[in-house]
Amino acid sequence: MAKERLISGASAGVAEEQFNLSLRPQTLDDYVGQPGLVEKLRITLEAVKQRGEPMEHVLLHGPPGLGKTTLAHIIAAEMGTHCAITSGPALTKGGDLVGTLTKLQRGDVLFIDEIHRLPVSVEEFVYPAMEDFKIDFTIDSGMHAKTVPIALKPFTLIGATTRAGLLSGPMRSRFGITHNLEYYGRTDLLSILRRSAGLLELELTDDADAALSAIAERARGTPRIANRLLRRVRDFAQVKHDGQLGPAVVDAALELEGVDAIGLDELDRKYLRVIGEVYAGGPVGLEAVAATLGEDGGTLESVVEPYLLQLGYVARTRKGRQLTQAGAGHVGLALADRKSAALFDGND
Ligand SMILES: Nc1ncnc2c1ncn2[C@@H]1O[C@H](COP(=O)(O)OP(=O)(O)O)[C@@H](O)[C@H]1O
Ligand SMILES: [Mg+2]
Repeated sequence: MAKERLISGASAGVAEEQFNLSLRPQTLDDYVGQPGLVEKLRITLEAVKQRGEPMEHVLLHGPPGLGKTTLAHIIAAEMGTHCAITSGPALTKGGDLVGTLTKLQRGDVLFIDEIHRLPVSVEEFVYPAMEDFKIDFTIDSGMHAKTVPIALKPFTLIGATTRAGLLSGPMRSRFGITHNLEYYGRTDLLSILRRSAGLLELELTDDADAALSAIAERARGTPRIANRLLRRVRDFAQVKHDGQLGPAVVDAALELEGVDAIGLDELDRKYLRVIGEVYAGGPVGLEAVAATLGEDGGTLESVVEPYLLQLGYVARTRKGRQLTQAGAGHVGLALADRKSAALFDGND
């Protein structure tokens, strides 16, 4: 994509990660939302601590920016251990993990981000580490190859993935806890923003809560986006409004960025308009929409469609993408009745 999207759930790079580090909750008590998961983790953590065992392996899946990496750090902190971090694409062969695994202390956490991108050979190398806390290390190659078993200290593997469907069955079955993170509701996003505003020592006017609510509305259910928008609004307020943060400032700052009242940007709106205007509301194949937009189909599928599907602005049918009345309404289009009737039949 030509330009970084302000409302993308993915990390915008090192600077943002550093900024986020200061806002990242450190304990389960500070972790907002995801009550089902937090409760499950609390119970398991307490039980394993009583037994003096390491935490079970945990698999977290869900869209970017919902707090998977944060949770891995929290689990290590709650265990009083350390968290080592790596990612699927960074590992090309089993040997790449030997150093990391052998350095782990009892109860440490090994976090593997984008675990669905682990090469098969690395997956197979990891299985005995997960099951029996041992690895088979191969020295030399060809005729002289020798396998040396190495014992590891009991550790916890935490895997994170944005594409659960791409994870192999054998890998998935080796996790004791598997959880799908949900998009956050407004109340949770507002709590996260209040906490962040406090940590950033923002100067809040009387209607500060209205300002933070206006940001929450645009955060697409995603804490990382909420914090990013807060930072953008803070800069705007500082330069244009003596640092005072009210709802009008939020509106002005985000309108400038092309982010509308519910957090859609120009690309989202173009996508809706193309289906509505060029393809009469659909159904239309993803590739056709991508070609008209001059975007890559995979990109649309992974970065544009998830939130629009979540909003119910577009539906995925067997024949392709279909704009809904709500989606059409958002970009000021009216769908012919026939279309919505057809969609209704299709779902029935
Ligand atoms: N439950 C939460 N409570 C408070 N802040 C959160 C929560 N989840 C995520 N965040 C904030 O969002 C940022 C991005 O979260 P992160 O764990 O990096 O997401 P992921 O790994 O799922 O992409 C964190 O730095 C943190 O500031
Ligand atoms: Mg992450």
